[in-house]
Amino acid sequence: MKRRERFLRACHGQPVDRPPVWLMRQAGRYLPEYRALRERSSFLEMCRDPARATEISLHPFERFGVDGVVVFSDILIPLTGLGIELHFDPGPVVRNPVEGRGDLERLAGDVESAMQPTCEAIRLLKRELGEEAAVIGFAGAPWTLAAYVSEQKLSRDVELLCGLSYSAPEFVDTLLDRMAEISAEALRVQIEAGADVLQIFDTWAGVLSTPRFERFAGRSLRRVLDLLPEQRPPLIIFARAASHLMEAIADIGPDVVSLDWRTDLGEAARRIGQRVSLQGNLEPSALKSPPAEIERAVAELIRAGQKARGHILNLGHGVLPSIPVEGVAAFVRAAQRGLS
Ligand code: CP3
Repeated sequence: MKRRERFLRACHGQPVDRPPVWLMRQAGRYLPEYRALRERSSFLEMCRDPARATEISLHPFERFGVDGVVVFSDILIPLTGLGIELHFDPGPVVRNPVEGRGDLERLAGDVESAMQPTCEAIRLLKRELGEEAAVIGFAGAPWTLAAYVSEQKLSRDVELLCGLSYSAPEFVDTLLDRMAEISAEALRVQIEAGADVLQIFDTWAGVLSTPRFERFAGRSLRRVLDLLPEQRPPLIIFARAASHLMEAIADIGPDVVSLDWRTDLGEAARRIGQRVSLQGNLEPSALKSPPAEIERAVAELIRAGQKARGHILNLGHGVLPSIPVEGVAAFVRAAQRGLS
């Protein structure tokens, strides 16, 4: 079975020879070939150079033979087309955050032009990979994008946006509607460029209780899905620290729910695994264990994942810069071997 087909079948809950595997942040600072390129250019410069972004996206494919290749970019790139001034240090820093209605009206411009280099990288990846791997495009969820644009440097508990959701809920509704349009537009242009699979990152949804998730983050995620074309590639939703939200996320209508490592995969399979496929969910730090231990953990995940209609092996969040390359290699190798 070709890697692209394996990936798409798992998203739809169709039988596969083994679960497909990729890792969030699989291209990045833990790889020496990335660090070598990064010495010469900033992160944003590399995102804006389609040939470079393509090369970096392919690093983990060439090294490990992962089934999915995620395009090298960032969830905040679409916002740069709307006058948000952004740099990375190493996390995002916004010079002109959106603090009220006036700032929101200033957010004019063009997502498509900001996404142009990423879309060109997707076209180049498709040309390079053909059936050999699924090309994954992505966007930030409205709540997570709103969290980043509302503060210069996002506080640990998303203090500003959470506060606004109590003191000025109508403003937050308007902000989330705008972010939903941006998120949907970013996904739409990646579909047009040929992305095989889409992932929405709701990194900060987990700070919300279930009713407040439904009221804010969930409602705006639904809006994103409504704005996408009817014929769209399979869609994965990832939310961090969101075990309490798994049913609410499955209800929104993705094909796959991506779980962070605090959620028990077997239990998630029992609760939502008949209507959606699952992705995940090894703790990133577990890749610091000896290879035999990683193999054991992967076998356990494969067994738990078999209780769902489909399972894509991944971590429960992104690869950390301090993860040894050998740990990632052992993870992918164990996945490729399956249970045999
Ligand atoms: O997964 C991949 O390999 C594809 C590329 C990708 C990046 N960011 C590259 C990146 C993807 C899918 C993202 C998504 C992203 N960006 C998210 C959602 C996923 C998550 O981690 O929860 C978020 C919240 C962002 C915002 C962002 N960008 C942060 C918080 C940081 C700093 C974090 C860190 O690792 O230090 C970035 C910078 C960033 N994005 C880097 C990379 C490779 C590091 C840039 C560098 O080389 O300095």
